[in-house]
This record gives sequence, structure tokens and C-alpha cells, in this order.
Amino acid sequence: MLAGRKVLVGVTGSIAAYRAAEVVRGLVREGAETRVVMTAAARRFVSHVTFATLSGHPVATRLFDGGPVHIELARFAEAAVVVPATANILGKVAHGIADDLLSTVLLACTAPVLFCPAMNASMYRHPAVQASIGRLKEMGYHFAEPGTGALACGEEGPGRLAEPEAILEHVGRLLAPKDLAGLTVLVTAGPTREPLDPVRFISNRSSGKMGYAVAAAAAARGARVILVSGPTQLAPPAGVETVWVETAREMLARVREFYPAADVVVKAAAVADYRPAGVSEHKIKKEGETLHLVLEKNPDILATLGREKGRRILVGFAAETEELVPRARRKLEEKNLDLLVANDVTLPGAGFGTDTNVVQLVYRDGRVVPLPLMTKRALAHRILDEVLRLRAAPGP
Ligand code: PMT
Repeated sequence: MLAGRKVLVGVTGSIAAYRAAEVVRGLVREGAETRVVMTAAARRFVSHVTFATLSGHPVATRLFDGGPVHIELARFAEAAVVVPATANILGKVAHGIADDLLSTVLLACTAPVLFCPAMNASMYRHPAVQASIGRLKEMGYHFAEPGTGALACGEEGPGRLAEPEAILEHVGRLLAPKDLAGLTVLVTAGPTREPLDPVRFISNRSSGKMGYAVAAAAAARGARVILVSGPTQLAPPAGVETVWVETAREMLARVREFYPAADVVVKAAAVADYRPAGVSEHKIKKEGETLHLVLEKNPDILATLGREKGRRILVGFAAETEELVPRARRKLEEKNLDLLVANDVTLPGAGFGTDTNVVQLVYRDGRVVPLPLMTKRALAHRILDEVLRLRAAPGP
């Protein structure tokens, strides 16, 4: 959703200014045309050269640099993000003060603006700052809420800049078209865990990143999203109903519960094909030189859904290490899918745990479309674009 979009980044004077570089880097990586405005205080923390290098454009710093630069920048922006946002910039915009380039651009800007506050906890809690935030929210400004924890000033409390990934996600939400509004998208993500005894389980390397990216992208595009997730370390995406499961059989039960309401299903989860035939009540003792486990087959969730498909669009994933396309075709056929996203997990930047993926899209009509390496966020949007095309295509 960020590719080709125009994003203005305002950087103000906080120790967190260096993290704005990660945000600019992320925007550029996603293909957004990015311009940076820095306040004088921000330049005391980070050089404008850093942002000029990352964005590929000169950094704007002064109001009186020839023409009406503030109007040009305000018109350029399809979205603006102020990262970090100090008490000073929040107070100024809340009260209509325009005494430097950034505050003036923000008053002239009609695009959605995201503030990412970062400051000392006592400052953040101060009634004047809270009043500015309240006023800005009433005016329709957006906020990436700060985290709570140890701050650079040595204090503990609220005021830590939101994570750059969460900020990028939020900017994506501001820019996303609401083309999935009215649809319910059911997504599965992460691994399953199949217990052996009270302390051990069989699982796999799925981090959940791919499925969470699909869930976040669908929510950003206006869908009701139900995410059925195996155990992961990830925060549930904003605006998504998240349901936690552990085993394949639990995943099947929860997916079946939500299936009647779903218009689209995207199954990115890496489901264990087999589970231990019995779960030991006590921890299995270390006795012999070898230990034999008996495994039994788990239900195939997607194949079950495929048998009751109706008018839904079903998208599966296939993680393969060989014969990518033939295996993907077989799975598409056997599970009665509309689209199979096939990843060769041996490729660099593809598959488990990475922020990127390399896939081939395999269609029912035999088409195979290889995609270049891209972020999982960009791939999620690409998959949803395909879902919309498949929904619009005349039925067989
Ligand atoms: O989570 P990440 O770290 O971001 O990694 C992403 C990913 C590699 C897990 C993801 O891109 C991916 O490929 N997911 C599917 C992995 C997989 O289990 O593939 P499979 O070929 O075993 O299964 C094919 C399809 O059937 C999948 O959609 C799977 O969810 C589904 N399935 C499989 C077995 C089973 N018992 N029930 C199922 O529904």
C-alpha cells in the first residue's frame, strides 16, 4: 500500500529522533516517495545528512527557503507522520501555532497526519500535554501511542516511541483503500504445537509474520478480520479479532466456528501434519539410548474447508524445499483452492521468520506468476489484490 505513495516525515527534537531514520528507511524500502522536514532541535540529535541519504531527497529545514516551501510540502503529502513528536510540536499544532517550517506545513496539510509521541514520562503525563493530545484527537489527528518502560532519561513510564514497524503499519492503514469493506477475512498464522508430555511439544519454525501481515493488511483495507493464531511472539495487529490456539485440532475447531461468516480465507499457518499418538501425563524420562515416538495424522484443515467452499475465496500457502510448482499445483487441486502462494523456503529472504518472502502465485486456471523478493507486508497486499480480482471474475 505504500508503493508509489507520497509520505512526508516530520522529525522533532527528541533523543528518539534517531529511530525516525528506521521509519524513513522502511518507507523507502516499501516504495514510498518520502520527504523529510526537520526542526532545528531535531538537527541537534541527528544530522540532516542521515535523512537526505535515506530518503534520496534534500531535507527541508527552513521556512524561508525561497518560495512557499511549506505549501509545496503540504500539497506533496498523501500522509504525514511526525516521528518523534515532542510536547512542543503537539502543543503548537493543537493551538494553531505556526512558527517554523514543520508546524506551518502541518497546519497547511489536509492529508491524514500521524503523531508518534516520545518524551519523558512526567512530560507525557502533564495535563497540558494530555490536553493537546485530546484536542488533536478530536480534530481527527492520528496517534501511534507511545510504549511504557525504561526511558532514555532514566525514568520509567509512558513516553517511549512506538516501534518503527508499528508506525509503518499505521501509515499503511492511513493510505490503504477500503476496498475490502463489508467482507469478513479469516486468516490463520503461526505454527501449531503438538504436545508430547507436560513440558515438550513438536512444532515448526513459523513466526507468524506472514499471516499477521495478511491480517493487518486486510484490516487496513476495511475488512472484518478474524486471525486464528498459533503461539507466536508477535503483538496482534490493530483492529483484528485474534483467537489463540495451540494444536492443529484446536485450530480446526476455531476455524470451523468462524468459517460460516467468512467471505475469504487465507491459510498462512504452518500446521503440524502429525501429532504424537498419545500425550504422556508425566515428563518422559531419559532412559534408553533411543526413544520411539508414534505419530498420527492431524486433520487437514484447509482440505476440510475446501469441501464446504461455497462462494468463498480460499487461499492456501505451501512451504516447499523442492518441486515447488508441481507440489503447489497438487495442493491447490486436492484442497479445492482458488490461489496457492508457494514459497521455496530454501531461498534467501523467503519463508520462515524473515520480514520478506519470495513466492510464486499458482492459480486454478494453470497460471503461475513468480513474484520478486518483497516484504511480507507488500506481499500481503498483493495477495489481497488477487483475492479481489478472483471475487470479481465470473464463476465457472
Ligand atoms: O510464519 P512465518 O515465519 O512468516 O513463515 C511463513 C510461512 C513459511 C509459514 C508461510 O509463508 C507458509 O508457507 N505457510 C504454509 C506452510 C505449510 O504448512 O505449508 P503446507 O504445504 O504444509 O500446507 C499447505 C496448506 O495447507 C497451508 O495453507 C496450510 O495452512 C494448510 N494445512 C496444512 C496441513 C494441515 N494439517 N492443515 C492445513 O490446513
